[in-house]
Amino acid sequence: MRKVLQLFVSCAALTLAACGGGGGSGGASVTSAAGTQTAATSNATGTTTNTSNLSLAAQVGQKLFFDQNLSGGKNQSCASCHDPNYAYGPPNSLAVQLGSDGLSKGQRAVPSLRYKDMTPPYSDVAENPDGVTTSAPGGGFMLDGRAPTLADQVTLPLLNPIEMNNASKEAVVQTARSASYAALFKQAFGANALDDTDAAFASIGQAIAAFETEDVSFHPYKSKYDLYIGNKIGGTLTPAEMRGLAVFNREDRGNCLACHFQGANFNGSTGLMTDFTYQAIGAPRNDRSIPNNPDPIPANDDPSYFDMGLCGPANDDSYNSHKPGTPKAGAAPDPFTGANNPNPYCGRFKVPTLRNAASRSVFFHNGIFHALEQVVRFYNTRDTNPEYWYPSSGGTGTATANPPYALQPTSVPGATVDKFNDLPAMYRGNIDEEAPLGQGQTDAGGSTALNGAQPRPAGSTPQLSEQDIKDLVCFLGVLSDGYQPPAEAPTGGTCVN
Ligand code: HEC
Ligand code: HEC
Repeated sequence: MRKVLQLFVSCAALTLAACGGGGGSGGASVTSAAGTQTAATSNATGTTTNTSNLSLAAQVGQKLFFDQNLSGGKNQSCASCHDPNYAYGPPNSLAVQLGSDGLSKGQRAVPSLRYKDMTPPYSDVAENPDGVTTSAPGGGFMLDGRAPTLADQVTLPLLNPIEMNNASKEAVVQTARSASYAALFKQAFGANALDDTDAAFASIGQAIAAFETEDVSFHPYKSKYDLYIGNKIGGTLTPAEMRGLAVFNREDRGNCLACHFQGANFNGSTGLMTDFTYQAIGAPRNDRSIPNNPDPIPANDDPSYFDMGLCGPANDDSYNSHKPGTPKAGAAPDPFTGANNPNPYCGRFKVPTLRNAASRSVFFHNGIFHALEQVVRFYNTRDTNPEYWYPSSGGTGTATANPPYALQPTSVPGATVDKFNDLPAMYRGNIDEEAPLGQGQTDAGGSTALNGAQPRPAGSTPQLSEQDIKDLVCFLGVLSDGYQPPAEAPTGGTCVN
């Protein structure tokens, strides 16, 4: 388990507006969503069912979720970016998606919407599900926690000019008034539910949140891993998967569970592969400076723009803003070193669930990586070989080729690497140095170089072996929903022996 995650005393003293629960109420449901706008839906394994077990509000939410008319260009629904056939994640490998206007590109990769129903509201001092780790920033929706509930979250894409691009709440409500499901809407929320713009808009949020919470397709628990932890038939992990699980859990190997918490989680859930906290792990900047970069983020063309997660700029005026210069920026002496820390929140992003990560082709908040193995290799060599991941300058001699998985194709001996280049230098002390990125924690606790956790020296041996990497990727594969045990156990091939 993770030891102490540093938390600044001053953070605890900061007040936090009370925030609501994690979305609509969870009614019993056996139905699930589909990629279509029809009443019939398909679950994770492709079976079609009907909506009869969803509450009326959730049935409305389902219609709304798939309604392309709810965008400015009448060409984009929630499902365009959160595709049910891709675990409600993006249906392509693009780092960021196009908006309804067909021109604007987003600033973050699209997360999966699965397994969000257990997410607690954001708090600077959230309880950790492991029951031992010190309270720390955690919970909330969006990669910076700026939406307190699923219902609140819905406003953001609907009105965001670079996403669904509706001119106003009124424009959204007008669409709902003339929708085929307007009658159902009134049945669910009352005869006058579409009259008042603000009330109707709030009901739209509630309806979508109810769908996301109630429909089992958002939390199917239909992976091989679920069969394994439930001791069910078909859940026998292969030797390779078992080794991968051990790498995942061992503090002296992957140490993945320190953040992607595997154990019993909130509200009786288990194996969510996240502790809902926010960590700074130093993803490389996704910009045009990377040779052959398939999809740099346009916002990064501005060298003064940094997406810093919890400290903005996206969560600027919301209830948990830690933007530099605001009262909640959190400047404080580091509790372990006494050194001044300008803003401990900068660079921290939500720890995502790893369920269905194997079926994604874009990873991290800025979509910098496109393969699971590459992510694991980043964890393994971020500190030992930063020249693989971050741009360098200077140096002498002939450039040598980096391994094929590296973002930077070559490196020059003696060059200076701009490590953690997607965070202004003054905040780089916030970067997590726990294993496997760095060398774990000292007795003083804390997880950053500033408070004692050690970076792994450049040029030293990475923590994971080639076998560990292979096995770990095999284990991550068992976290994908829709698993059907084969009639006969395979005796050879990838991820078996
Ligand atoms: C153009 C693509 C796009 C569309 C359309 C879109 N989203 Fe998203 N969604 C995103 C991105 C990108 C993020 C991450 C944003 C961030 O962290 O700032 C996100 C985040 C979310 C989250 C938070 C997930 C988490 O892990 O906390 C939820 C919930 C969500 N979207 C629901 C919806 C709903 C409901 C709709 C329709 C009303 C919708 N989205 C439409 C791209 C999209
Ligand atoms: C110190 C906490 C921490 C540890 C330890 C950790 N992770 Fe992560 N992981 C994160 C955070 C935070 C993100 C999101 C980073 C971002 O968006 O920039 C993440 C993202 C990921 C993603 C991308 C998922 C997605 O949807 O984009 C994968 C895959 C992943 N981690 C796998 C692993 C594996 C495998 C290990 C162990 C070798 C591991 N992580 C160890 C915190 C951690």
